[in-house]
Amino acid sequence: MPDAKPIYVLNGPNLNLLGSREPDIYGRVTLAEIEKACALRAGQLGREVVFRQSNVEGELVNWLQEAGDKAAAIVLNAGAYTHTSIALHDAIKAVAVPVIECHLSNPAAREDFRHISLVGKAAKGVIAGFGATSYLLAIEAAALLANESKSA
Ligand code: DQA
Repeated sequence: MPDAKPIYVLNGPNLNLLGSREPDIYGRVTLAEIEKACALRAGQLGREVVFRQSNVEGELVNWLQEAGDKAAAIVLNAGAYTHTSIALHDAIKAVAVPVIECHLSNPAAREDFRHISLVGKAAKGVIAGFGATSYLLAIEAAALLANESKSA
């Protein structure tokens, strides 16, 4: 697919610690390994991946705005900002590109404070609870949505 726009995969706070962070919940796969697996799966689907992580909320807002211009679709694991960030909610609403909320764990099955998702209230859909595989399922959804859109 010549000139196909990339899929942006944006990661929020503490996801840089994957591999050692609460492995009983998040597994032992590192973010670098997830990045490689995403790039491979996206490549099979004719897309490249732009993969980033930040602990800073505003940086994620900037990247969502950038992706609004440059991406075919966005996979967003906003970490704990999922449950708190009106700024991320508004940024998702502001971009025309579909956003897929993604989580390793299943927040609905965890503490009450994780049951609200401000990201999910603006996102196209949610994939959660499959560990690192959530990202690959999200890449597949992103590629499908991108292929449905003429401009992507
Ligand atoms: C998470 C779930 C969030 O509730 C949590 O704050 C995270 C990780 C996940 O991928 O399971 O940081 O987004």
